[in-house]
Amino acid sequence: MALLQTSILNTHDMPWESGLDYLRTLAPAFRDNLGPAEQVQANFAKYRQKNLYLDPLTTRRLDLVELEPGYSDLTHCCHDSVEEGFLLSGEVVLDGEGTLQAGDYFWRPPGWIHHAKTGPGVQLLLGFEGRSNESGPVTRQVCAPQQAGSNHLKPTLDEAALGSRGRLRQVRTGELVWQPGPDFARSQAALTGFDLTQLAVRVLSSNPRTGQQTLLLRLAPGYQQGSAGAHAVDWQMFVLSGSVRWGSQALGAGCFVHRPAGRVEPAMASAEGALIYAKVNGWMNFTPASHS
Ligand SMILES: [Fe+2]
Repeated sequence: MALLQTSILNTHDMPWESGLDYLRTLAPAFRDNLGPAEQVQANFAKYRQKNLYLDPLTTRRLDLVELEPGYSDLTHCCHDSVEEGFLLSGEVVLDGEGTLQAGDYFWRPPGWIHHAKTGPGVQLLLGFEGRSNESGPVTRQVCAPQQAGSNHLKPTLDEAALGSRGRLRQVRTGELVWQPGPDFARSQAALTGFDLTQLAVRVLSSNPRTGQQTLLLRLAPGYQQGSAGAHAVDWQMFVLSGSVRWGSQALGAGCFVHRPAGRVEPAMASAEGALIYAKVNGWMNFTPASHS
């Protein structure tokens, strides 16, 4: 069941979940086909994650993932789900796609065949849309290496293979324009009460029909929202740097928030400024709370 309450996580306080633990949860028919047992054990020992969000109903999830130096997927694969990533540090080579470094972003529609390996190690925010209106369930299908860069589900490569947001193999987010808040607001439903003049936005990917989008939000020092209020759609954010404040809550780098649609929260402020990775489940539509 989807979360009804706002969830706030400080990833610094969370233990890493080992890839070896994850391995134990896999069905034998899947686990035993991953490769020689010794190799599987050694490889998953280099994989760890902290789960930020998981909806069992749709399998939609978001994790903070760390791959140690030398990690390499044992097979090429594809998923029925969209896979999405934003690199926090390090480097990863995605066969069929590119060599991604800190600040790079990808949005991979279902079916595209890929393989990940890292020399120096990598840390990233890794999401699967799951069985939402964006994609299918989170599955993993083993594919042949020579298929890298092709689409298993849509071999004719028509427009349907591009999914709802296009195939974004490597977005160098540092090269995207910062949209000033007032200009960005014209593409949304309503941002009443936002401190638009202190806000800038980079759009990493978006669905033109539903408004679902992944963004970088830059709050200038002194950002101050006008009042408490609620978003009309689910809202997730991960603080990359700086800090934000909600009422008495201070959220620094590494904090994650899942805020369900309709949930009223205090006005957001940032004295020192902040950089935020945000996933918004539709066009932004913020309604200030009525005061009694
Ligand atoms: Fe993948």
